[in-house]
Amino acid sequence: MPVIPMTSTPCGPLTGVAEVPGDKSISHRSLILGAMAVGETRITGLLEGDDVLDTARAMRAFGAEVTNHGGGSWSVHGVGVGGFGEPDQVIDCGNSGTGVRLIMGAMATSPITATFTGDASLNGRPMARITDPLALFGTQSVGRDGGRLPMTIVGAPDPVPVCYSVPVPSAQVKSAVLLAGLNAPGQTVVIEREATRDHTERMLVGFGAEVTVEQTDQGRVITLTGQPELKPQTIAVPRDPSSAAFPVCAALIVPGSDVLVPGIGLNPTRAGLFTTLREMGADLTYENERTEGGEPVADLRARFSPDMKGINVPPERAASMIDEYPVLSVVAAHATGITMMTGVRELRVKESDRIAAMADGLRACGISVEDGEDWWSVTGMGPKSVPGGATCVSHLDHRIAMSFMVLGMGAQNPVSVDDGSPIATSFPIFEPLMGGLGANLSRTSG
Ligand code: S3P
Repeated sequence: MPVIPMTSTPCGPLTGVAEVPGDKSISHRSLILGAMAVGETRITGLLEGDDVLDTARAMRAFGAEVTNHGGGSWSVHGVGVGGFGEPDQVIDCGNSGTGVRLIMGAMATSPITATFTGDASLNGRPMARITDPLALFGTQSVGRDGGRLPMTIVGAPDPVPVCYSVPVPSAQVKSAVLLAGLNAPGQTVVIEREATRDHTERMLVGFGAEVTVEQTDQGRVITLTGQPELKPQTIAVPRDPSSAAFPVCAALIVPGSDVLVPGIGLNPTRAGLFTTLREMGADLTYENERTEGGEPVADLRARFSPDMKGINVPPERAASMIDEYPVLSVVAAHATGITMMTGVRELRVKESDRIAAMADGLRACGISVEDGEDWWSVTGMGPKSVPGGATCVSHLDHRIAMSFMVLGMGAQNPVSVDDGSPIATSFPIFEPLMGGLGANLSRTSG
C-alpha cells in the first residue's frame, strides 16, 4: 500500500449533508453470516472499504460465492453452518481485527485448517483472546510469539459447546465464540460483564438462530443453540456511527459550521460518543428519529459549539464509544477545561496504541495531554486556540489519521499526517466527503 502523506489546512465553515458509508461492523457480519447461511443473502449499503473487501475475499476462499453487483449492492451464496471448505491460500485480513477474529471463530469448529495473516498493524495485535476460548471447543492454533499472526487454526473435528466468560470488554471475542458455537452441538453460552456492541446477537436472530440474552448479576448471558440452519437474509446496512463521528466532530469545532449527517444508527451499544458530546455542551441534535431494521436511527445535525466544556467520561460508557476516543480527544482540545477518559485500556491494543498515538500528535500540536495505562486526559484550549502546525504519525490506523485531519480543520495552523492511506479501510470517501463540506484536505508529497 503506497504511503499517502496528507495535510488538513484550517478551513471556513463546514456546511451541507454528509452521507457517510455503511457500518463496518454490520458489513463484516453480513458477509460472514451470509456465507454460513444456506442460499442467497442480498446486502445493500455494504461498506466497500478495504477491511470489508478483505472479508469478502476470505469468504470466497472458504467456498461462499460473493458477488458485487455495484453501488454497494452485494450477494452472498452461503455454504451453510459447517459447510466451509479449506482455503488453498493464506487468508490475508489486511488491517482488520474484526475480520480476522470473526472469521477465525466462524471456521474454528469445522474440520479444516486455515492460516491467517495481515498487515504490520494486525500482525502486532493480540490473538490469544480469540484462540483461548476457541481451544475450549477443541480448536488448535499455532501462531507467533505472544499469540500473534501469522497463525494457523486447525478447526475442531468434533467440537463441544462451551460456556465462556469474556475477560475483556470485546465484541470481537464475544462474536468469535458465538460464531464458533454455531457448529457445535448443544448450547454455547457467552457471558459479558459489560455490554459491548450487540450486532452479532441481533443478526444471528435475524438469520434464524436461537439466541437468548439474559441480564444477570454476572452480566449479559447470551445462549446460542448450535447447529441451526441459517436462513438467507435481505440486509440494508445502516450508516456507520463511527464514521459519522468525523463530520460531526469537525462541525462542532469549526466556527460557523452546520452539517447534517443522515441515517445514523443510534444503537445504545454504539452511540456513547454522541451522548458524551451533548454532555459537553455540543449543539448536536437528533432529527427524524425512527426505527429501521430494528435499530434506532436518526439524522444528526451538528453545529459549531463554542461553549463546550471538558467532562469526566464515565468508564462504563467506554465500550459504546471505544473507536471514538481519538476524535473525542480532538473535540476535547477545542473545549474548555479537562476531559478525563478512564477505563480505556483496550485503546492500547487497537489498530495502534491509540492513547499513545493521539497523545504524541496532540502534544506536537501544542495540546496538553496526560496518560496512564488505562486513562488519559486532554486540557482544552477553547475554540480556535489550538496551535496545530505539526506532522503526526498515523501508525497504520485509519481513525488516528482521520482524527488529526479533523484537528487541522479547527486549528490555527495546518496539521499533517505521515500516512493517510489507512483511511481507505473504513471510510474510503473521507476526502471527497469532507472536501464537499468545505474542508481543505490535500495529499502532500512525502
Ligand atoms: C468491533 C468491535 C470493537 C471495535 C472494532 C469493531 C466489532 O473491537 O473496536 O472496530 O465489529 O465487533 P473490540 O470488540 O475488540 O473492542
